[in-house]
Amino acid sequence: MKLWLRLTVTAVMAVSLSGGFGLIYRAAAQARGAAPATAPETVKKAGEVFKNVTTSTLKELPVDDFIAAMGVMSAALGYDCADCHVGAGSDKADFVIDTIPQKKTARRMVEMVASINRTNFAGVQRVTCWTCHHGQEVPTTTIALDNLYATPIMEDADVVLPGVGQASADEILDKYIQAVGGSQRLAGLTSFVATGASLGYGGFGGDAEFTIFAKAPNQRTTVITFKDHPERGDSVWAFDGRYELVGEELDGARLEAQMAFPGQIKQVLSNWRVGLRRAISGRDYNVVQGTGSRGLLATLYFDPESGLLRRMVRYGPSPVGRVPTQIDYTDYRDVGGIKFPFEYQFSWLDGRYTAKLKEIKMNVAIDPAKFGRPVSK
Ligand code: HEC
Ligand code: HEC
Repeated sequence: MKLWLRLTVTAVMAVSLSGGFGLIYRAAAQARGAAPATAPETVKKAGEVFKNVTTSTLKELPVDDFIAAMGVMSAALGYDCADCHVGAGSDKADFVIDTIPQKKTARRMVEMVASINRTNFAGVQRVTCWTCHHGQEVPTTTIALDNLYATPIMEDADVVLPGVGQASADEILDKYIQAVGGSQRLAGLTSFVATGASLGYGGFGGDAEFTIFAKAPNQRTTVITFKDHPERGDSVWAFDGRYELVGEELDGARLEAQMAFPGQIKQVLSNWRVGLRRAISGRDYNVVQGTGSRGLLATLYFDPESGLLRRMVRYGPSPVGRVPTQIDYTDYRDVGGIKFPFEYQFSWLDGRYTAKLKEIKMNVAIDPAKFGRPVSK
């Protein structure tokens, strides 16, 4: 597991200590304090914010999406930030200079990927860093004969193709709405506060208090607090959105907030399609995919018997490959006639954690400041 988010946080802090970047970041963060639908227009591009960002695709991204693209490249090659950036993860990080040859190669590869897709695939993103690298620094060119005769590794395609003979998306989504309590009860759910513990946050180890504040139709904040380790405070905030919520991450977080109120599920995404069933731990699930704004994709896995949502994988767009985030939902329990998952496993390019809820309070007043972006004035 590559802990680049930790490095990112350290890096961002290190850069902000040395000036400039921190301020710009805060400006971006304040822009995201505006209504989500309008925020990104005011966000500066990576090419303007950073000193040495020149590739035709990456320079156009908002800063947060740019960092996410860095994560995609790292994951695709099995790299950490420090494999391309001198001192990344330390207080001597220098992201600007090009002394490591891999960084220069990566820049060339970013343009190559754009060009391959443009000239061969009508501009559709068919080829990404992962297509060739598959977690290796140098892609292999020839099949190893052992692999030829071994069971193939199954990798599910991120774009779901229509599967023949499946239930319709409407049927699957209706069954889900019914399974969690029915549209009438769900319409009565206007807010909730869920509390519990989170285990193994981003590889930091140790348990933390975990709280979700959610307000219909689309507000949701997750707070992870290490009571016994106040020095970890920064990573908590980083996860809480301070460094993440612009561009594709903002769209993704909004989707999660909307999904906290399942009665509206059919409206939050469009172009619903049903693929072939896919297995999670040996059990087959109905697979439904929807499209969100600005290239967001979300694949939902529903239990064919109970109708409940087992997994959501959301994909944000990036020029070097999609940015996946996966949430697994288990241990559904009834709270006032509505079924809530009491266990979440959250996985992203950089790590994963499990949160186990102890209690959910429905329809409680929540201080609006909880949803304000966690940026001090
Ligand atoms: C495979 C090599 C590679 C890896 C791994 C990588 N980067 Fe980069 N990084 C680049 C390249 C190439 C650029 C310049 C991009 C351009 O010119 O558009 C860059 C630029 C940057 C910049 C802008 C610096 C400036 O001011 O010009 C930051 C910040 C950055 N990377 C952060 C990260 C972080 C954080 C990670 C780990 C998540 C990371 N990078 C991982 C190749 C890499
Ligand atoms: C069409 C296949 C293909 C794609 C797509 C691709 N690469 Fe590569 N990449 C290669 C090959 C082949 C090599 C090895 C070249 C060599 O050894 O001379 C390589 C080498 C590299 C290296 C140098 C590794 C080393 O130390 O030898 C880096 C860094 C790299 N690629 C980054 C990327 C990034 C980042 C992306 C996505 C933006 C990407 N590549 C997409 C084929 C690809």
